[in-house]
Amino acid sequence: MNDLIYVNKQKLEFHLTNGHISYIIKVMPKIKQLESVYFGKAVHVRKDLHNLNEYEPGSGCQLFANTGIASLEHRRQEYPTYGSTDFRKPAFEIKYNDGDKISNFQFDSYQILNGAPFYKVLPHVRYADNAQTLVFLLKDQYSDLELKLNYTIFPDLDIIVRNAEFFNPSKNDYHLLAVKSASLDLPTSNYDLITLNGAWARERHVNRSPLRPGIQEIGSVRGATGHIHDPFIALADKNATQNSGNVIGMTLMYSGNHQETVDVNTYGVTRIMTGISDADFDWILQPMSNFVTPQAILSFSSNGFNGLSHNYHDLIRQHIINKHWQKPKRPVLINNWEATYYDFNEQKLIKLAKEAKDIGCNLFVLDDGWFGHRTTDSGSMGDWKVDKKKLPDGLDHLVKNIHDLGMQFGLWFEPEALTMDTTLYKEHSSWLLGNNKKHLSQGRNQYLVDFANPSAVNFLFKKMCKIIDNIHPDYIKWDMNRNITEPYSNYLSKEEQGEVFHRYIMGVYRLYQMLTEKYPDILFESCAGGGGRYDLAMFYYAPQAWTSDDTDAYERWQIQTGTSYVYPPAVMGSHVSIVPNHQTGRVTPLHSRINIAMFGTYGYEFDLTKLNTKEKEELKKGTDQFHHFHDLIFKGDFYRLEPADSNHGAWQANSKDKKHAVICYSYGLSEPNHGYYYVKLAGLDPDQLYEINGQRKLYGDELMNIGLPLTKDFRNHEDQYWSQPKTDFDTKIFELKAIDK
Ligand code: DGJ
Repeated sequence: MNDLIYVNKQKLEFHLTNGHISYIIKVMPKIKQLESVYFGKAVHVRKDLHNLNEYEPGSGCQLFANTGIASLEHRRQEYPTYGSTDFRKPAFEIKYNDGDKISNFQFDSYQILNGAPFYKVLPHVRYADNAQTLVFLLKDQYSDLELKLNYTIFPDLDIIVRNAEFFNPSKNDYHLLAVKSASLDLPTSNYDLITLNGAWARERHVNRSPLRPGIQEIGSVRGATGHIHDPFIALADKNATQNSGNVIGMTLMYSGNHQETVDVNTYGVTRIMTGISDADFDWILQPMSNFVTPQAILSFSSNGFNGLSHNYHDLIRQHIINKHWQKPKRPVLINNWEATYYDFNEQKLIKLAKEAKDIGCNLFVLDDGWFGHRTTDSGSMGDWKVDKKKLPDGLDHLVKNIHDLGMQFGLWFEPEALTMDTTLYKEHSSWLLGNNKKHLSQGRNQYLVDFANPSAVNFLFKKMCKIIDNIHPDYIKWDMNRNITEPYSNYLSKEEQGEVFHRYIMGVYRLYQMLTEKYPDILFESCAGGGGRYDLAMFYYAPQAWTSDDTDAYERWQIQTGTSYVYPPAVMGSHVSIVPNHQTGRVTPLHSRINIAMFGTYGYEFDLTKLNTKEKEELKKGTDQFHHFHDLIFKGDFYRLEPADSNHGAWQANSKDKKHAVICYSYGLSEPNHGYYYVKLAGLDPDQLYEINGQRKLYGDELMNIGLPLTKDFRNHEDQYWSQPKTDFDTKIFELKAIDK
């Protein structure tokens, strides 16, 4: 095993490096807390760090007499504590029995382990035999509490995985009031902050702004990752572009309430922190129990945002998605949601499936509305029994017919949802999340099952198993359509109510774990009203997620561009749908809807029975195109390119050997009599000759430095200039193949 972690044992200095990145930490003498020294592009391993010692710029309070440390406010720290001269947000906060909240965790020892930490239920990076983990053990000077800080580094990925584990070996309870997964102090604040923000149907739009003094924070208190803020922040050099400049990223492998804080202090030091949100969090650390924080995934790129995305994409594809799903080609699906909504019967579904089969779909997904008496979104949630009015011969009959067509069958569930008209509610009213002596808000006319209650989770597991064992679906879409409000668990004691949010999401993980373990061959797709629970943890169980309820091609371009900062196309559910689009009313050309959906787990979501032969032909070609480019997009390197015009966009996917590439260029609004357009490509072999769409030939360096010419050549057929089709939201696919000179 290659050494990735270097230790100066005398000085207690630690250098994690894989030759591309360095992460350097040291134990501060005397006060024995961990100091952040450096995270970024690799520096050489040297015998000690004395040349990196930081001088304190001003005189502090001198609270640590005779230590050379004026104040923790002047120190960059790895896991800062509350209330002891560091006046910034702490990484953790513990309430002791006497109400006091001051801790003093000091370095005790360290260990270097091969591999990465394993957790039974909490999602974590896996298949990491070639990684190494540095574990610090810190002990509280005011109690028996212990704290482990884990740092995992990979030889071939520019990623550091961090988290914290608190352990209580004593006989007393302690309250954890804040427990972040990682905190990192950077010496300056000369960065731009990048976040991915939005709302339902317009998730993860990219926002970039310069850092300013004080706290800048995003997060979620909705009980889920949320549509509003992805748990990702990046700090980029001012001049960083898609392909150049230094960028640090931090994201969280967690699906519940989260909080990402950037705090620029008065000395221009920038603290970045991620973890479970402090809001309404109060975890009782009981005797002999531990609390493990979700993992924070830090990444560094000196090749701009694309470099950072490649780190995250490779991590997700190799170390988060279940091995079982890493290689197999994803099915091309037809989902009946936008085709029929609640208005379907077996005949209608079979007709749709047949049309879908004709255009190359191999998975039919039956969405919401197959159970209880659900003709609108107003009830039956929890009655997981087939609606015999719609499917009189039962689900198994429909599934058999679908299978007979040679297609796989997929089924929609929303296991967490509950409405009061159901047997589930009548028989288990205490499983409702919330105190029903008070007003409980509805979300999409529904309430939630208390997933903090293991009996409710076990019950739903059995319920789902019964259906699964009866019909043997090949795919399950797990939806979740509301935020948690009035959080209260009838299962937990009054002292434990600060645990509801975390226990809820741990219940979700447990159900996912039980189902995926029992049915490893069922492909799960996660969904939360589109992209409302889109995070690394979900991909641990479900290798694909419905990226947004918005299927409009133009809006999807923005959503998928933002999403790609962290998540690879290989996990992004994206379907071709009808126009005018149901979410935006926009009309976009069919080929653009196909081209954009192709950069994701591809499928269709509209009434194919209403299409004409020409449209069906185009869709069939769309499916073939998806297959043709599948490996490039799913296994290769994805790039966002700087387009020729701010109204345009460009994506590229290269095979890892740089011999094959596909570019999707989006022209946005049509521009009359426009100028010359070029787009500079990325990641090619500079000396390689490439043939473009079987015609023009250019070298890699020409394509990357001069650019791919996008202007059509009308020489000798000028008359065709006027008759060429013109449309808004046009897109064009370019295929590059390496050829001999
Ligand atoms: C929200 C999902 O995102 C949609 O795709 C669809 O499954 C509906 N829920 C069904 O209620």
